[in-house]
Amino acid sequence: MKKNGIRKAIFPIGGLGTRFLPATKALPKEMLPIIDKPLIQFVVEEALAAGFDELIFVTGRGKEAIENHFDIAFELEQTLRERGKLRVLENVRACSLPPGCASYIRQQEPKGLGHAVLCARHLVEGAPFAVLLADELILGGRAPAIAELVQAYNTTEGNVVAATDVPQEHVSRYGILAHDPRNGMTCAVRSIVEKPTPEVAPSRTAVIGRYILSPRIFDYLTRQEPGSSGEIQLTDAISAMLQDGTPLTGVYVSGTRFDCGARDGTIKATIFQALQDPDLAAVVHEAINTSNEKRAAS
Ligand code: UTP
Repeated sequence: MKKNGIRKAIFPIGGLGTRFLPATKALPKEMLPIIDKPLIQFVVEEALAAGFDELIFVTGRGKEAIENHFDIAFELEQTLRERGKLRVLENVRACSLPPGCASYIRQQEPKGLGHAVLCARHLVEGAPFAVLLADELILGGRAPAIAELVQAYNTTEGNVVAATDVPQEHVSRYGILAHDPRNGMTCAVRSIVEKPTPEVAPSRTAVIGRYILSPRIFDYLTRQEPGSSGEIQLTDAISAMLQDGTPLTGVYVSGTRFDCGARDGTIKATIFQALQDPDLAAVVHEAINTSNEKRAAS
């Protein structure tokens, strides 16, 4: 496993996932699959591949399935072994995390992403750390997206966020950056604003669910008043730090980003993943052809 100086990664998974109701009434949003892999597993694999070995999950009510997913499933594994389903068994076993590497802490009320991160404060103990949002998938990059942020963190001062350009009509979904011209993979950020309307957005450059943060962020989160949607926003605390002189760098990650907190992004991620597999790619093309033929005939 590749090692880096930052070992702790926080996965905030305490949100309600209202955009996917009723699917998320009894199932955590982060367990929704892209084909056969839950969203949370993609980001955990990303963090492990980047060398993180202390994984902190900030859970909430009804999120127990996530804890079980990363545990050993003794009876299931035994049954698969007895039935000779060894490839499936291998996939199931690959989900269980190394002993002691995961901590689970409860966000008792979904008061926002910033509040979820604040809940992990005592587990982070004064060291820089990563935050990965399970509903933002970044696939097919040259390196794990979070490793690209670590690389930028090691060569710049202050906090680091992943960035990508989004359509103008989508800026009100995201934290948006005002920034200097792009310099290779990075840009120096001048200001950051949460969910601006398209009319006042300073650019189309959105923050996309990956952060490397200084532990000083906790002082800001503690003082942070509720912002957009009445929630304690991580973006607002990063913005306050920036205004106080802590630089902020945006990293244009090399992978393709899918917003799986929204239906359009989930569909795109599913098709992207399916096209990586020759058998599934044929199924996608067949489904599109059938749908086109039906439309032409009607
Ligand atoms: P979202 O902003 O997508 O919110 O959270 P949400 O509640 O999950 O979904 P919608 O908007 O109601 O459909 C982004 C990430 O932050 C976590 C979520 O679980 C998700 O992974 N989060 C959000 C928390 O951990 N706690 C919160 O209070 C809010």
